[in-house]
Amino acid sequence: MRRILVLGATSGIGFALVKALRERGYEVIAAGRRKALLDELGGETLELDVTAPDAITRAAAVKADTVIFNAGYGERSALPDWGRTEKALAVNVVAFERFAQWALTACTCFAGTASIAGLRGLEDTNGYSASKAYMINALEGYRRKARHGGFACRYVTILPGFVDTAMGQASTFWRCSPEQAAAVILRGLQRQQTLIYVTPRWRWIALLMRFLPRTLFERLPLSTQSQ
Ligand SMILES: NC(=O)c1ccc[n+]([C@@H]2O[C@H](COP(=O)([O-])OP(=O)(O)OC[C@H]3O[C@@H](n4cnc5c(N)ncnc54)[C@H](OP(=O)(O)O)[C@@H]3O)[C@@H](O)[C@H]2O)c1
Repeated sequence: MRRILVLGATSGIGFALVKALRERGYEVIAAGRRKALLDELGGETLELDVTAPDAITRAAAVKADTVIFNAGYGERSALPDWGRTEKALAVNVVAFERFAQWALTACTCFAGTASIAGLRGLEDTNGYSASKAYMINALEGYRRKARHGGFACRYVTILPGFVDTAMGQASTFWRCSPEQAAAVILRGLQRQQTLIYVTPRWRWIALLMRFLPRTLFERLPLSTQSQ
C-alpha cells in the first residue's frame, strides 16, 4: 500500500479518508465528480465519474497499487423508485464490478465500501441494500479467486453501519463521524484486515442480522418512512 486511489473522495468518508491517509504519508489520488471539492482537498486529484465508459482507462493511468472504491449512491424512499434504484445499480454494482475485475491483475489491494445494509433486505432502501449485497458477495468471490488462482490482489470489504455524512442521516444509532470512520478504515488496511466493520462494534449487529431467522427478521419493522 503505497500509492492509493480513493474513488468517491469529494465528501463524507472518502474526504476524511484522503486526509487521514495523507497525514500518514501515503501518496493519495483523490477522485470524484465535484471539481470544487477536489480543489478543496488539494494534492493529486482526478475528476472522474466511475460510471463513465473510459473510467478504468483513466484510473489505470494514475498507476496506483491500491484502489478504494468508496463511491456510492443511495437514498431512502417510502415507495420503490426506479430512478433511485437505477442510479444505485449503475454506481454500486456496474461501476464497482468493472473496477473490481480490473483490479485482479492491476492492483495489489482493492477495497470496496459496502454497507451493513447489504446483509439483509431492507424496506426503504431495497435497491441500495441489494446493490451492497452484490458488493459483499463479489468481494468475497474475488478474495477466493485471488487466493485459489494465485493473484496478488488483496480484496477488502468495508462494512459501515451509520456514518454522519449526507448519506448517513437515517439514524443516529451508533453513528460515528467521517473522521472516526476514516481512522477505523486506515487501521484495518494497515493491519491487512479483509473485513473492516465501521465502527468495530457493528460486527455484533452484523452477527445478529446474519443469524436472525428469516421469519423473525421479516416481522421486525425497520422503516423510518411514513407512507
Ligand atoms: N454514511 C453512511 O451511513 C454509510 C453507511 C454504509 C455505507 N456507506 C457507504 O460509504 C460510501 C461513502 O458514502 P458517504 O456516507 O461518505 O456519502 P457521501 O458523502 O454522499 O459520499 C459519496 C461519494 O461517492 C461519490 N460518487 C457518487 N457517485 C459517483 C460517481 N458516479 N462517480 C464518482 N464518484 C461518485 C461522491 O462524489 P461526487 O458526487 O463528487 O462524484 C462522494 O464522494 C458509499 O459507498 C456509501 O454507500 C455509507
